[in-house]
Amino acid sequence: QGCSWRSYLTTRLFGSRSVVGCVKASGKSGLPRKTAPARSLELQSSGRGRFLLEHAAPFSAFLTDSFGRQHNYLRISLTEKCNLRCQYCMPEEGVQLTPKSELLTAQEIISLARLFVKEGVEKIRLTGGEPLIRPDVVDIVGQLYKLEGLKTIAVTTNGINLARLLPRLKEAGLNAINISLDTLVPAKFEFIVRRKGFHKVMEGIHKATELGYRPVKVNCVVMRGFNEDELLGFVDFTKDLPVDVRFIEYMPFDGNRWNFKKMVSYKEMLDTIKQRWPELEKLPCEASSTAKSYKVPHFQGQISFITSMSEHFCGSCNRLRITADGNLKVCLFGNSEVSLRDHLRSGASEEELVQIIGAAVGRKKKQHAGMFNISQMKNRPMILIGG
Ligand SMILES: C[S@@+](CC[C@H](N)C(=O)[O-])C[C@H]1O[C@@H](n2cnc3c(N)ncnc32)[C@H](O)[C@@H]1O
Ligand code: SF4
Repeated sequence: QGCSWRSYLTTRLFGSRSVVGCVKASGKSGLPRKTAPARSLELQSSGRGRFLLEHAAPFSAFLTDSFGRQHNYLRISLTEKCNLRCQYCMPEEGVQLTPKSELLTAQEIISLARLFVKEGVEKIRLTGGEPLIRPDVVDIVGQLYKLEGLKTIAVTTNGINLARLLPRLKEAGLNAINISLDTLVPAKFEFIVRRKGFHKVMEGIHKATELGYRPVKVNCVVMRGFNEDELLGFVDFTKDLPVDVRFIEYMPFDGNRWNFKKMVSYKEMLDTIKQRWPELEKLPCEASSTAKSYKVPHFQGQISFITSMSEHFCGSCNRLRITADGNLKVCLFGNSEVSLRDHLRSGASEEELVQIIGAAVGRKKKQHAGMFNISQMKNRPMILIGG
Protein backbone atom coordinates (compact mmCIF):
# COMPACT_ATOMS: atom_id res chain seq x y z
CA GLN A 1 0.00 0.00 0.00
CA GLY A 2 3.12 2.21 0.07
CA CYS A 3 2.27 4.39 -2.88
CA SER A 4 -1.34 4.90 -1.93
CA TRP A 5 -0.74 6.21 1.56
CA ARG A 6 2.16 8.29 0.31
CA SER A 7 -0.08 10.04 -2.17
CA TYR A 8 -2.69 10.54 0.53
CA LEU A 9 -0.15 11.99 2.91
CA THR A 10 1.26 14.25 0.24
CA THR A 11 -2.22 15.67 -0.14
CA ARG A 12 -2.50 16.24 3.60
CA LEU A 13 0.96 17.71 3.92
CA PHE A 14 1.04 19.99 0.97
CA GLY A 15 -2.58 20.84 0.49
CA SER A 16 -2.69 19.68 -3.14
CA ARG A 17 -5.62 17.52 -4.29
CA SER A 18 -3.05 15.38 -6.06
CA VAL A 19 -4.63 12.00 -5.23
CA VAL A 20 -7.09 12.70 -8.02
CA GLY A 21 -4.34 13.15 -10.55
CA CYS A 22 -2.41 10.01 -9.66
CA VAL A 23 -1.30 7.49 -12.24
CA LYS A 24 -1.80 3.78 -11.85
CA ALA A 25 0.92 1.20 -11.22
CA SER A 26 0.75 -2.44 -10.30
CA GLY A 27 1.16 -3.04 -6.54
CA LYS A 28 2.37 -6.14 -4.71
CA SER A 29 -1.07 -7.73 -4.68
CA GLY A 30 -1.49 -7.13 -8.38
CA LEU A 31 -4.05 -4.45 -7.57
CA PRO A 32 -3.53 -1.24 -9.48
CA ARG A 33 -2.17 1.21 -6.94
CA LYS A 34 -2.01 4.95 -7.13
CA THR A 35 1.36 6.61 -7.18
CA ALA A 36 2.10 10.19 -6.25
CA PRO A 37 2.72 12.52 -9.17
CA ALA A 38 6.15 13.93 -9.84
CA ARG A 39 5.48 17.26 -8.12
CA SER A 40 4.58 15.49 -4.90
CA LEU A 41 7.65 13.30 -5.10
CA GLU A 42 9.76 16.43 -5.21
CA LEU A 43 8.00 17.75 -2.12
CA GLN A 44 8.54 14.46 -0.30
CA SER A 45 12.25 15.15 -0.31
CA SER A 46 11.78 18.03 2.17
CA GLY A 47 12.89 17.17 5.71
CA ARG A 48 9.51 17.44 7.42
CA GLY A 49 7.74 15.73 4.53
CA ARG A 50 10.13 12.78 4.64
CA PHE A 51 9.82 12.41 8.41
CA LEU A 52 6.02 12.34 8.28
CA LEU A 53 5.93 9.99 5.33
CA GLU A 54 8.18 7.56 7.14
CA HIS A 55 6.12 7.61 10.32
CA ALA A 56 2.60 7.63 8.94
CA ALA A 57 0.32 4.61 9.20
CA PRO A 58 -0.62 3.29 5.77
CA PHE A 59 -4.22 3.66 4.64
CA SER A 60 -5.95 2.68 1.42
CA ALA A 61 -6.04 5.33 -1.28
CA PHE A 62 -9.34 3.86 -2.43
CA LEU A 63 -11.01 4.73 0.86
CA THR A 64 -9.37 8.16 1.04
CA ASP A 65 -11.28 10.96 -0.63
CA SER A 66 -9.92 14.02 -2.38
CA PHE A 67 -10.13 16.00 0.87
CA GLY A 68 -7.93 13.52 2.71
CA ARG A 69 -10.73 11.88 4.72
CA GLN A 70 -9.97 8.24 5.48
CA HIS A 71 -13.09 6.10 5.55
CA ASN A 72 -12.55 3.37 8.10
CA TYR A 73 -16.15 3.08 9.25
CA LEU A 74 -18.82 1.26 7.24
CA ARG A 75 -22.54 1.12 7.98
CA ILE A 76 -24.44 -1.74 6.42
CA SER A 77 -28.21 -1.77 6.26
CA LEU A 78 -29.49 -5.30 6.75
CA THR A 79 -33.12 -4.70 5.82
CA GLU A 80 -35.60 -2.11 4.61
CA LYS A 81 -38.29 -3.47 6.91
CA CYS A 82 -39.10 -2.35 10.42
CA ASN A 83 -41.41 -3.32 13.26
CA LEU A 84 -41.93 0.37 14.16
CA ARG A 85 -43.06 3.36 12.07
CA CYS A 86 -41.21 6.34 13.57
CA GLN A 87 -42.65 9.62 12.35
CA TYR A 88 -39.23 11.21 11.69
CA CYS A 89 -37.96 8.21 9.72
CA MET A 90 -40.70 7.06 7.40
CA PRO A 91 -44.05 8.13 5.97
CA GLU A 92 -47.15 6.75 7.70
CA GLU A 93 -48.19 4.79 4.61
CA GLY A 94 -44.86 2.94 4.68
CA VAL A 95 -42.30 2.75 1.88
CA GLN A 96 -42.08 0.78 -1.34
CA LEU A 97 -39.99 -2.26 -0.48
CA THR A 98 -37.37 -3.70 -2.82
CA PRO A 99 -38.11 -7.30 -3.92
CA LYS A 100 -36.18 -9.81 -1.81
CA SER A 101 -34.15 -11.06 -4.78
CA GLU A 102 -32.68 -7.55 -5.14
CA LEU A 103 -31.53 -7.29 -1.53
CA LEU A 104 -28.05 -8.34 -0.48
CA THR A 105 -27.77 -11.90 0.77
CA ALA A 106 -25.73 -12.65 3.90
CA GLN A 107 -22.96 -14.02 1.71
CA GLU A 108 -22.86 -10.85 -0.40
CA ILE A 109 -22.79 -8.72 2.75
CA ILE A 110 -19.82 -10.67 4.07
CA SER A 111 -17.98 -10.54 0.72
CA LEU A 112 -18.34 -6.77 0.58
CA ALA A 113 -17.45 -6.39 4.26
CA ARG A 114 -14.30 -8.48 3.71
CA LEU A 115 -13.25 -6.23 0.86
CA PHE A 116 -13.76 -3.04 2.87
CA VAL A 117 -11.94 -4.47 5.89
CA LYS A 118 -9.01 -5.49 3.66
CA GLU A 119 -8.83 -1.88 2.50
CA GLY A 120 -8.80 -0.48 6.04
CA VAL A 121 -12.33 -0.43 7.50
CA GLU A 122 -12.06 -1.09 11.24
CA LYS A 123 -15.63 -0.59 12.35
CA ILE A 124 -18.87 -1.93 10.89
CA ARG A 125 -22.29 -0.91 12.15
CA LEU A 126 -25.35 -2.97 11.23
CA THR A 127 -28.44 -0.87 10.80
CA GLY A 128 -31.59 -0.69 8.73
CA GLY A 129 -34.67 -0.65 8.81
CA GLU A 130 -34.57 -2.71 11.95
CA PRO A 131 -31.51 -4.98 11.75
CA LEU A 132 -32.71 -7.29 14.52
CA ILE A 133 -35.70 -8.48 12.52
CA ARG A 134 -33.38 -10.09 9.98
CA PRO A 135 -33.44 -13.84 10.81
CA ASP A 136 -29.73 -14.36 10.04
CA VAL A 137 -28.45 -11.36 12.01
CA VAL A 138 -26.61 -13.48 14.61
CA ASP A 139 -24.93 -15.47 11.87
CA ILE A 140 -23.90 -12.26 10.05
CA VAL A 141 -22.33 -10.90 13.25
CA GLY A 142 -20.52 -14.22 13.73
CA GLN A 143 -19.10 -14.10 10.21
CA LEU A 144 -18.02 -10.48 10.55
CA TYR A 145 -16.24 -11.41 13.76
CA LYS A 146 -13.94 -13.68 11.75
CA LEU A 147 -12.68 -10.79 9.58
CA GLU A 148 -9.15 -10.02 10.56
CA GLY A 149 -8.62 -6.30 11.11
CA LEU A 150 -12.20 -5.51 12.03
CA LYS A 151 -12.10 -4.04 15.53
CA THR A 152 -15.70 -3.06 16.22
CA ILE A 153 -19.00 -4.68 15.26
CA ALA A 154 -21.84 -2.40 16.29
CA VAL A 155 -25.59 -2.39 15.85
CA THR A 156 -28.18 0.39 15.88
CA THR A 157 -31.53 -1.02 16.91
CA ASN A 158 -34.94 0.15 18.03
CA GLY A 159 -34.53 -2.28 20.93
CA ILE A 160 -37.77 -4.22 20.48
CA ASN A 161 -36.04 -7.60 19.94
CA LEU A 162 -32.86 -6.75 21.79
CA ALA A 163 -33.33 -8.36 25.22
CA ARG A 164 -34.17 -11.66 23.55
CA LEU A 165 -31.31 -11.65 21.03
CA LEU A 166 -28.52 -9.90 22.89
CA PRO A 167 -26.96 -12.91 24.65
CA ARG A 168 -26.53 -14.65 21.26
CA LEU A 169 -25.35 -11.48 19.54
CA LYS A 170 -22.77 -10.93 22.26
CA GLU A 171 -21.58 -14.51 21.97
CA ALA A 172 -21.25 -14.02 18.20
CA GLY A 173 -19.01 -10.98 18.68
CA LEU A 174 -21.19 -7.86 18.86
CA ASN A 175 -19.27 -5.26 20.84
CA ALA A 176 -21.16 -1.95 20.62
CA ILE A 177 -24.84 -1.02 20.78
CA ASN A 178 -26.96 2.03 20.05
CA ILE A 179 -30.62 1.80 21.04
CA SER A 180 -33.17 4.33 19.85
CA LEU A 181 -35.58 5.77 22.39
CA ASP A 182 -37.18 9.18 21.98
CA THR A 183 -39.37 9.40 25.05
CA LEU A 184 -39.59 8.10 28.60
CA VAL A 185 -43.40 8.29 28.51
CA PRO A 186 -45.01 5.03 27.28
CA ALA A 187 -48.07 6.69 25.73
CA LYS A 188 -45.92 9.18 23.84
CA PHE A 189 -43.74 6.32 22.59
CA GLU A 190 -46.77 4.89 20.80
CA PHE A 191 -47.51 8.25 19.24
CA ILE A 192 -43.97 8.84 17.97
CA VAL A 193 -43.28 5.32 16.68
CA ARG A 194 -46.89 4.47 15.76
CA ARG A 195 -46.56 1.07 17.49
CA LYS A 196 -46.44 -0.41 21.02
CA GLY A 197 -43.21 -1.62 22.64
CA PHE A 198 -41.88 0.91 25.17
CA HIS A 199 -41.26 -1.70 27.87
CA LYS A 200 -39.42 -4.01 25.50
CA VAL A 201 -37.04 -1.19 24.57
CA MET A 202 -36.41 -0.42 28.25
CA GLU A 203 -35.81 -4.10 28.86
CA GLY A 204 -33.29 -4.07 25.99
CA ILE A 205 -31.43 -1.09 27.47
CA HIS A 206 -31.19 -2.79 30.88
CA LYS A 207 -30.11 -6.09 29.32
CA ALA A 208 -27.31 -4.31 27.44
CA THR A 209 -26.00 -2.70 30.63
CA GLU A 210 -26.29 -6.02 32.53
CA LEU A 211 -24.28 -7.79 29.83
CA GLY A 212 -21.50 -5.27 30.24
CA TYR A 213 -21.83 -3.01 27.18
CA ARG A 214 -20.18 0.34 28.00
CA PRO A 215 -21.52 2.79 27.30
CA VAL A 216 -24.90 1.76 26.01
CA LYS A 217 -25.74 4.55 23.60
CA VAL A 218 -29.35 5.71 23.57
CA ASN A 219 -30.32 7.65 20.43
CA CYS A 220 -32.99 10.27 21.00
CA VAL A 221 -34.20 12.36 18.06
CA VAL A 222 -35.39 15.66 19.53
CA MET A 223 -38.39 17.29 17.87
CA ARG A 224 -40.26 20.38 18.93
CA GLY A 225 -43.78 19.57 20.02
CA PHE A 226 -42.84 15.91 20.55
CA ASN A 227 -40.15 15.48 23.17
CA GLU A 228 -38.15 18.67 23.69
CA ASP A 229 -39.80 18.87 27.11
CA GLU A 230 -38.07 15.60 28.09
CA LEU A 231 -34.45 16.75 27.84
CA LEU A 232 -34.09 17.00 31.63
CA GLY A 233 -35.84 13.66 32.12
CA PHE A 234 -33.28 12.03 29.82
CA VAL A 235 -30.44 13.71 31.73
CA ASP A 236 -31.85 12.19 34.95
CA PHE A 237 -31.94 8.83 33.15
CA THR A 238 -28.11 8.95 33.06
CA LYS A 239 -27.87 9.31 36.85
CA ASP A 240 -27.84 5.63 37.79
CA LEU A 241 -27.32 3.94 34.41
CA PRO A 242 -24.06 3.75 32.41
CA VAL A 243 -25.75 5.07 29.28
CA ASP A 244 -24.80 7.81 26.85
CA VAL A 245 -28.03 9.56 25.82
CA ARG A 246 -27.37 11.10 22.43
CA PHE A 247 -29.69 13.96 21.55
CA ILE A 248 -29.90 13.99 17.76
CA GLU A 249 -30.99 17.05 15.78
CA TYR A 250 -33.97 16.24 13.59
CA MET A 251 -32.76 15.74 10.00
CA PRO A 252 -34.69 16.03 6.73
CA PHE A 253 -35.28 12.91 4.63
CA ASP A 254 -37.85 12.06 1.99
CA GLY A 255 -41.31 11.58 3.43
CA ASN A 256 -40.59 12.76 7.00
CA ARG A 257 -42.19 16.22 6.66
CA TRP A 258 -39.11 17.93 8.12
CA ASN A 259 -39.41 21.58 8.85
CA PHE A 260 -37.03 23.98 10.51
CA LYS A 261 -39.47 24.88 13.27
CA LYS A 262 -39.60 21.27 14.44
CA MET A 263 -35.81 21.09 14.73
CA VAL A 264 -34.35 21.82 18.17
CA SER A 265 -30.74 22.93 17.81
CA TYR A 266 -27.78 21.79 19.87
CA LYS A 267 -27.41 25.27 21.33
CA GLU A 268 -31.01 25.42 22.45
CA MET A 269 -30.83 21.94 24.01
CA LEU A 270 -27.59 22.76 25.80
CA ASP A 271 -29.02 26.04 27.16
CA THR A 272 -32.05 24.24 28.57
CA ILE A 273 -29.91 21.59 30.23
CA LYS A 274 -27.37 24.08 31.59
CA GLN A 275 -30.10 26.08 33.30
CA ARG A 276 -30.83 23.04 35.46
CA TRP A 277 -27.25 21.69 35.55
CA PRO A 278 -24.83 24.66 35.41
CA GLU A 279 -22.02 22.35 36.52
CA LEU A 280 -22.37 20.23 33.33
CA GLU A 281 -18.84 19.16 32.27
CA LYS A 282 -17.69 19.01 28.64
CA LEU A 283 -15.89 15.75 27.88
CA PRO A 284 -12.99 15.34 25.42
CA CYS A 285 -13.91 13.74 22.10
CA GLU A 286 -12.15 11.68 19.43
CA ALA A 287 -11.19 13.36 16.15
CA SER A 288 -13.79 11.55 14.00
CA SER A 289 -16.52 11.59 16.64
CA THR A 290 -19.84 13.04 15.59
CA ALA A 291 -20.87 13.65 19.19
CA LYS A 292 -20.25 16.52 21.57
CA SER A 293 -20.34 14.92 25.00
CA TYR A 294 -21.08 16.22 28.48
CA LYS A 295 -21.61 14.80 31.91
CA VAL A 296 -23.29 15.85 35.12
CA PRO A 297 -20.59 15.29 37.77
CA HIS A 298 -21.14 12.03 39.70
CA PHE A 299 -23.76 10.68 37.31
CA GLN A 300 -22.93 7.20 35.99
CA GLY A 301 -23.83 8.02 32.43
CA GLN A 302 -23.35 10.98 30.12
CA ILE A 303 -25.16 12.93 27.41
CA SER A 304 -24.08 13.83 23.88
CA PHE A 305 -25.37 15.94 21.03
CA ILE A 306 -25.33 14.94 17.36
CA THR A 307 -25.33 18.30 15.61
CA SER A 308 -25.54 17.24 11.97
CA MET A 309 -27.75 20.23 11.11
CA SER A 310 -26.53 23.19 13.18
CA GLU A 311 -22.81 22.31 13.26
CA HIS A 312 -22.04 19.64 10.71
CA PHE A 313 -18.98 17.40 11.08
CA CYS A 314 -18.40 16.70 7.39
CA GLY A 315 -14.73 17.73 7.69
CA SER A 316 -13.92 14.67 9.78
CA CYS A 317 -16.46 12.28 8.24
CA ASN A 318 -15.05 8.74 8.07
CA ARG A 319 -18.28 6.89 7.14
CA LEU A 320 -19.54 5.03 4.15
CA ARG A 321 -22.89 3.29 3.83
CA ILE A 322 -24.22 0.27 2.00
CA THR A 323 -27.99 0.16 1.62
CA ALA A 324 -29.95 -3.09 1.95
CA ASP A 325 -30.25 -3.24 -1.85
CA GLY A 326 -26.50 -3.00 -2.17
CA ASN A 327 -25.87 0.63 -3.10
CA LEU A 328 -22.80 2.42 -1.81
CA LYS A 329 -23.65 5.87 -0.45
CA VAL A 330 -20.67 8.03 0.37
CA CYS A 331 -22.76 10.68 2.14
CA LEU A 332 -25.94 10.33 4.20
CA PHE A 333 -27.30 13.51 2.64
CA GLY A 334 -26.07 12.98 -0.91
CA ASN A 335 -28.15 11.19 -3.50
CA SER A 336 -25.32 9.77 -5.56
CA GLU A 337 -25.17 6.00 -5.28
CA VAL A 338 -23.41 3.13 -7.01
CA SER A 339 -24.76 -0.42 -7.06
CA LEU A 340 -22.14 -2.77 -5.64
CA ARG A 341 -24.74 -5.54 -5.82
CA ASP A 342 -24.99 -5.29 -9.62
CA HIS A 343 -21.21 -5.35 -10.05
CA LEU A 344 -20.91 -8.24 -7.60
CA ARG A 345 -23.63 -10.22 -9.38
CA SER A 346 -22.18 -9.58 -12.81
CA GLY A 347 -18.94 -11.21 -11.67
CA ALA A 348 -16.71 -8.17 -11.03
CA SER A 349 -13.37 -9.16 -9.55
CA GLU A 350 -12.19 -7.82 -6.19
CA GLU A 351 -9.83 -5.48 -8.01
CA GLU A 352 -12.67 -4.08 -10.13
CA LEU A 353 -14.91 -3.63 -7.10
CA VAL A 354 -12.18 -1.79 -5.23
CA GLN A 355 -11.73 0.53 -8.23
CA ILE A 356 -15.48 1.22 -8.35
CA ILE A 357 -15.57 1.94 -4.61
CA GLY A 358 -12.48 4.15 -4.92
CA ALA A 359 -14.04 6.16 -7.73
CA ALA A 360 -17.22 6.75 -5.68
CA VAL A 361 -15.22 7.79 -2.60
CA GLY A 362 -13.16 10.10 -4.82
CA ARG A 363 -16.36 11.89 -5.89
CA LYS A 364 -17.46 12.56 -2.30
CA LYS A 365 -18.27 16.22 -1.76
CA LYS A 366 -16.57 18.36 0.84
CA GLN A 367 -19.71 18.80 2.93
CA HIS A 368 -23.47 18.45 2.79
CA ALA A 369 -25.56 21.12 1.12
CA GLY A 370 -27.00 22.65 4.31
CA MET A 371 -30.27 21.75 6.00
CA PHE A 372 -32.53 23.91 3.86
CA ASN A 373 -31.09 22.61 0.59
CA ILE A 374 -31.10 19.03 1.88
CA SER A 375 -34.77 19.34 2.75
CA GLN A 376 -35.51 20.19 -0.91
CA MET A 377 -33.29 17.49 -2.38
CA LYS A 378 -34.39 14.07 -3.56
CA ASN A 379 -32.93 11.38 -1.30
CA ARG A 380 -34.24 8.16 0.17
CA PRO A 381 -36.38 8.09 3.30
CA MET A 382 -34.08 7.35 6.26
CA ILE A 383 -35.48 3.84 6.65
CA LEU A 384 -34.18 2.97 3.16
CA ILE A 385 -30.72 4.43 3.82
CA GLY A 386 -29.74 3.03 7.17
CA GLY A 387 -28.87 5.72 9.70
C1 LIG B 1 -32.91 4.63 10.63
S1 LIG B 1 -32.63 3.98 12.24
C2 LIG B 1 -32.22 2.30 11.87
C3 LIG B 1 -31.88 1.46 13.05
C4 LIG B 1 -33.00 1.10 14.00
N1 LIG B 1 -34.22 0.77 13.38
C5 LIG B 1 -33.20 2.19 15.02
O1 LIG B 1 -34.24 2.85 15.01
O2 LIG B 1 -32.31 2.39 15.84
C6 LIG B 1 -31.07 4.62 12.74
C7 LIG B 1 -31.10 5.89 13.54
O3 LIG B 1 -31.53 6.95 12.73
C8 LIG B 1 -32.26 7.85 13.52
N2 LIG B 1 -33.11 8.67 12.66
C9 LIG B 1 -34.07 8.25 11.82
N3 LIG B 1 -34.66 9.30 11.20
C10 LIG B 1 -34.03 10.40 11.65
C11 LIG B 1 -34.18 11.80 11.39
N4 LIG B 1 -35.07 12.26 10.55
N5 LIG B 1 -33.38 12.66 12.04
C12 LIG B 1 -32.44 12.21 12.92
N6 LIG B 1 -32.25 10.91 13.20
C13 LIG B 1 -33.04 10.01 12.58
C14 LIG B 1 -33.05 6.92 14.42
O4 LIG B 1 -33.51 7.56 15.58
C15 LIG B 1 -32.04 5.85 14.74
O5 LIG B 1 -31.35 6.18 15.91
S1 SF4 C 1 -35.98 4.90 13.17
FE1 SF4 C 1 -35.52 2.73 13.20
S2 SF4 C 1 -37.25 1.95 14.35
FE2 SF4 C 1 -37.91 3.88 13.70
S3 SF4 C 1 -39.00 3.49 11.76
FE3 SF4 C 1 -36.86 4.04 11.31
S4 SF4 C 1 -35.88 2.11 11.07
FE4 SF4 C 1 -37.77 1.73 12.21
